[in-house]
This record gives sequence, C-alpha cells and structure tokens, in this order.
Amino acid sequence: MRVTFCCTGTKAEPWLEGLRAALPDAEIGVWVPGAPQADYAVVWAPPQQFMDEQPALKALFNIGAGVDGLMKLRLPRHAQVVRLDDAGMSVQMAEYVTQAVIRHFRELDGYEADMRQGQWKFRKPQVRANFPVGVMGLGVLGERVAKALSVFEFPVRGWSRSPKQLDGVQTFHGAAGFSEFLQGTRILVNLLPLTPDTENLINRQTLQQLQPGAYVINVARGAHLVDEDLIALIQEGHVAGAMLDVFRQEPLPAEHPFWNVPQITMTPHTSARTLRDESIAQIVGKVAAMARGENVQGMVDPQRGY
Ligand code: NAP
Ligand code: GLV
Repeated sequence: MRVTFCCTGTKAEPWLEGLRAALPDAEIGVWVPGAPQADYAVVWAPPQQFMDEQPALKALFNIGAGVDGLMKLRLPRHAQVVRLDDAGMSVQMAEYVTQAVIRHFRELDGYEADMRQGQWKFRKPQVRANFPVGVMGLGVLGERVAKALSVFEFPVRGWSRSPKQLDGVQTFHGAAGFSEFLQGTRILVNLLPLTPDTENLINRQTLQQLQPGAYVINVARGAHLVDEDLIALIQEGHVAGAMLDVFRQEPLPAEHPFWNVPQITMTPHTSARTLRDESIAQIVGKVAAMARGENVQGMVDPQRGY
C-alpha cells in the first residue's frame, strides 16, 4: 500500500513519522510532481495537478473538517473524500464559541476597558433569556457547540438542512425554517460547511432578521459572510459586534476594514485546530476499515458538497 502526503502549509515530517509508525508496512512519502501512483492520500489544499496525476487513489483523507477547498477541484474518478470526524476539534470549537458568547453576554470587553482605565464600575447584569443563541449547522461541531451552550442555560436554537432533534435545543431546518430561526436569534453562530447553498448566506437580509443588538460569531468560513453588510449593520446599530475566526482571504489583508472596527474581535483561524496524533489515529483506523470493505464515518457526499 502506498500513501502520499500533500498538505499545503503543513510541515510534512512529523506527519510522515506518525503515519510510518502507525502503518509500518506501507510506503509513505510526500507527493512531488511525477511521484508514483498512491492508494491513499492525506491532503489539505492540494493543487489540481496532484489530482490529475493520481488517478488511482481510492480515498483522500482531508486533514480538516471543511472540504470546500477539495470540492472546487476535479477529483480522481474513484476516490472517496473522507473528512476528519471530530478528532479533538469539537471540544475546541465548543470552548471557543462558549467563551465568545459569554464574553459578549457578560460584557467582559467593557469590564476590561474600564479596569485598564482604573475604573471599578459595575454594569447591570443582563438577562440570559434575552440572549437566545442560534447555531447554524448542527453537524459534528455545531451539535457539540449547541449542547455546550445549553449547559450555561442560554436559550439555544439550531438550524440544519434536514430535521434534527436535540435535547435542550429548539431546532429548525431548511429554507422554510430559516426566517423563524433568525427572528428568534440574538447571537448567531455559524458552523455551516461552505457550499454553493451557504456562500454569502450571512448578508444584510439575514442579519436584519436577527434580534436588535445581535452578535455574530463566524467560525466556519469567511465566504459565508458578506463583510461589508456586517460592517454596515454594526454602523447602523442593529448588530452590536462580532467575533470572527475565519475570513475570505487568510491571512486577513492589512487594508481590510475589519481591522479598524472596534466592535469586531478577531482570531487567526484557530478556533478548532487539527490535532496531529488524533488525526493520524483516525486516518489509520479508516484506512484499515476501508481495506476490510467497511463503511467509515466522515464520508463526504460530493453532490451535497460536505
Ligand atoms: P458537518 O458535520 O458536515 O455539519 C454540517 C451541518 O450544516 C449539518 O448539520 C448540515 O445539515 C448543515 N447544513 C449544510 N448545508 C446546509 C444548508 N444549505 N442549510 C442548512 N443547513 C445546512 O460539519 P462540521 O464538522 O460540523 O463543520 C462545519 C464547518 O466548520 C466545516 O465545514 C468548516 O468549514 C468549519 N470549521 C472551521 C474550523 C475553524 O478552525 N475555524 C475548524 C473546523 C471546521 P444536515 O445535518 O441536515 O446535513
Ligand atoms: C478548519 O478550518 C477545518 O475545516 O478543519
């Protein structure tokens, strides 16, 4: 069995070491143009040339949850795309989103600014019931986030493509349920995959339907959000602010207006990182299961795009 590694922006050596230790009988190497045909590939943002030169691949293991980058490429005819299925990401996402919600709800940025100015000042406690949180996307990450938020007794709502039932979460689905979901939401959390259906979904029309004083937490993909609409709605006062981890262009260009909007808090695409050891263990388990002809979790449906 031959496994090839083609992950843009990722240091290959530690991955190769881990894969070789876990698959001692396999031939494992970094892809270079003209490399021999492999059976399996471990990928992140590979070039089209890689796909064109590896028609014999049986599966592509994406070392992330989002496969939007892969879905834009022409894939080898028989290759199945397999995403990372949690692998330590959902707990990171739950802690990131929970801290963002609590930081906003408890006005921690305001307290920090006061204290830095030497001001010992109390604010009136806000009413939790007035801060319903709506999670768009109830998949591997969204479900974990929704459950984590419900532990803190926020009213939690969730929106997905197909109907879902989750304890402690009021659920909505499909285009027909979108407006009702938005209208009852004040803090909007985005955990959708980026597909043709979800691109630019967080726009003026969407944001206007949120409750006044809305807050946006985007941890999925930058292209879900229409940047100028968010800034306009903040300036108009309907949206109080946002916490953004993902951007249309990463790193965020120096001239992007987000840098100068004080109501926007940003992090550099770090809310749920790929954990190497967990990911290697998962990939190796899936290779073994596929070799036995079994179905594996995390299989991507190219028709749906996620
Ligand atoms: P997932 O398991 O594939 O779940 C996707 C969810 O979105 C599902 O509930 C799905 O509905 C719903 N959905 C898809 N298309 C929809 C549509 N058109 N309308 C309504 N709902 C729709 O994905 P995941 O693992 O939770 O990850 C979500 C995204 O997070 C990834 O795609 C990636 O972009 C992003 N991410 C970001 C980071 C980071 O560090 N910032 C890290 C990891 C992942 P159904 O349940 O009905 O299918
Ligand atoms: C990161 O953004 C991922 O999709 O895993």
